[in-house]
Amino acid sequence: MPRSFRLTFFFSSHRSVRHTRMHTIPGPLHIPSSHSYATTSHSPTKTLKSQPAFIASVFGINEGVRLTEISRKSQEIPTITKSLLDRVFNALDGAIIKFLDPPLHLSVDPCYTLTDNFSPVDELSPTECEVVFGTIPPCLDGVYLRNGPNPQFTPSGPQHYLDGDGMVHSIRIYRGGATFCSRYIKTNKYLFENQVRSFIVPNVIGGMQGLGPFVARAALFCARIVLGQYDIGKGIGVANTNLAFFGGGLYALCESDLPYAIKVKENGDVITLGPHDFKGKLSMNMTAHPKIDPETKEAFAFRYWATCPYLTYFRFDADGNKQTDVPIFSMKEPSLTHDLAITQKYAIICDIQLGAHPMNLIHRGSLVSVDKTKVPRIGVLPRYAKDESDIKWFEVPGFNVFHAVNAWDESDEYGRDVVVLVAPNILSVEHFFDRVDLIRASMEKVVINFRTGVVSRQTLSTDNLEFPVINPAYIAKKNKYVYASISEKTPIKSRMMRTIGVAKLDIAASEDNTVASRIYGDNWFGGEPFFVAKEPEDSNLEEDDGYLVSYVHDESSGESRFLVMDARTPNLDVVAALKLPQRVPYGLHGVFIKEKHLNAMSQSDIVC
Ligand SMILES: [Fe+2]
Repeated sequence: MPRSFRLTFFFSSHRSVRHTRMHTIPGPLHIPSSHSYATTSHSPTKTLKSQPAFIASVFGINEGVRLTEISRKSQEIPTITKSLLDRVFNALDGAIIKFLDPPLHLSVDPCYTLTDNFSPVDELSPTECEVVFGTIPPCLDGVYLRNGPNPQFTPSGPQHYLDGDGMVHSIRIYRGGATFCSRYIKTNKYLFENQVRSFIVPNVIGGMQGLGPFVARAALFCARIVLGQYDIGKGIGVANTNLAFFGGGLYALCESDLPYAIKVKENGDVITLGPHDFKGKLSMNMTAHPKIDPETKEAFAFRYWATCPYLTYFRFDADGNKQTDVPIFSMKEPSLTHDLAITQKYAIICDIQLGAHPMNLIHRGSLVSVDKTKVPRIGVLPRYAKDESDIKWFEVPGFNVFHAVNAWDESDEYGRDVVVLVAPNILSVEHFFDRVDLIRASMEKVVINFRTGVVSRQTLSTDNLEFPVINPAYIAKKNKYVYASISEKTPIKSRMMRTIGVAKLDIAASEDNTVASRIYGDNWFGGEPFFVAKEPEDSNLEEDDGYLVSYVHDESSGESRFLVMDARTPNLDVVAALKLPQRVPYGLHGVFIKEKHLNAMSQSDIVC
């Protein structure tokens, strides 16, 4: 399928996000708050190279800033004409905002949602960090990277938080010292917009507020494409959701586009290599949450789509070679399936009530809709399936999963397969895009018995926990501990919830599953934790023998820190805190790569 077909994904959408004993981190240093929302983040001016347009995938490299080609047609247009076109397009965009857009809902009003520590920051080249408390454990030699939306330009119309350009905040640790940097993922969208210094690509979520504005924006975007202002063949994704390391490559991911290959340089800088299609075998988008089997090193993934097949499952072998697509035709309607789980036998697919159907724009004025009459289902597919003939679907009423924690295989007394899935169930899913403050999550363990068809459920926590992680060595295997972010108790209306702490659950316990926690302190907020095992290859160590790492931010002083917490202690004791050289906005998902894997990656560049 040609990559230009990805334009139709314009109709598809994205998803999102989201007490215990009080323990505070060491006292904050008071530093003036840095950015207001009006600040835009701009890279240095770039020079457009003259190359044939047909080699659309060719990127030039200049110390982390990759230059793309605007099509030959664009280059043939005189500069003065380009400038005039820019003005015309910008005027038309302004007219859409003024005459067609409905009054901005709070959830897509950037002046409302992208304030405080949700506001974007500028790029920062590698800068040394100060260890302000404790000592960094030697096992943390490596790099922690976290992705998140960080709009390149101040939006002039509706924009959802999740529409922002992806920026990676990276901390490179070596022998007790650390350097930090913030770099945009140089997506096709980022590079083209950077050239013309304004928006070109309509926001996938925020721009879908009503049929009229949608059609107008789509027409304007098509005009930009025809006149060479944008090369749609290279995608419109923002690569802002997650990061994954598999098959020797490190990728920035967003479910609306191809993965973007990135690389960590020796000095800690992060450069974008470009969109990666796995030797032409991945022609469309894929989930931002592939699951990597720690034993086989395979990666399991899927993509969802607005037309049939609504979901397609696939996997990559240990060397990163993509295997054959398995279309799931038994998924009868679009589902905003964000994540999957794997066991050693199966892939677990969730068919939820939240969907994105083009007809929603006509009938409801919004792309995304929730079908409360639909009974969510869990599909269990042999993970090496060649087709969907052996998939089994199980109805699980009210079970809407965005992030799957883990799954594993068991068997009943007759030797028949039992599958266990642990995941936060998103309650009141209908508020997912416009009233995220009303979202609540209930951590559940779901047990599926193949022989009886019975699905049993156990609530593990109702503490509104999200962004769950485990020791990565236990993916697809029975595990005991889950770590998750604790959402704030009184969130701001229609704004993404902040995280006040982290909780550790013992999912094997029959009651009182929360066995440890940390609250960051007054006005301190964090994000997704990531578990780093002390010695992943040492089977004698306990599952929780390692550290939780996360970025945290003090809204009083404007200071951001990198925290290292001992996962085995009841208070998740802070063993090291690093003051970061600039503010780190709240974001989405991250990954930690140990030193030896980082070295291996530096020797095997992914070709894009
Ligand atoms: Fe996610």
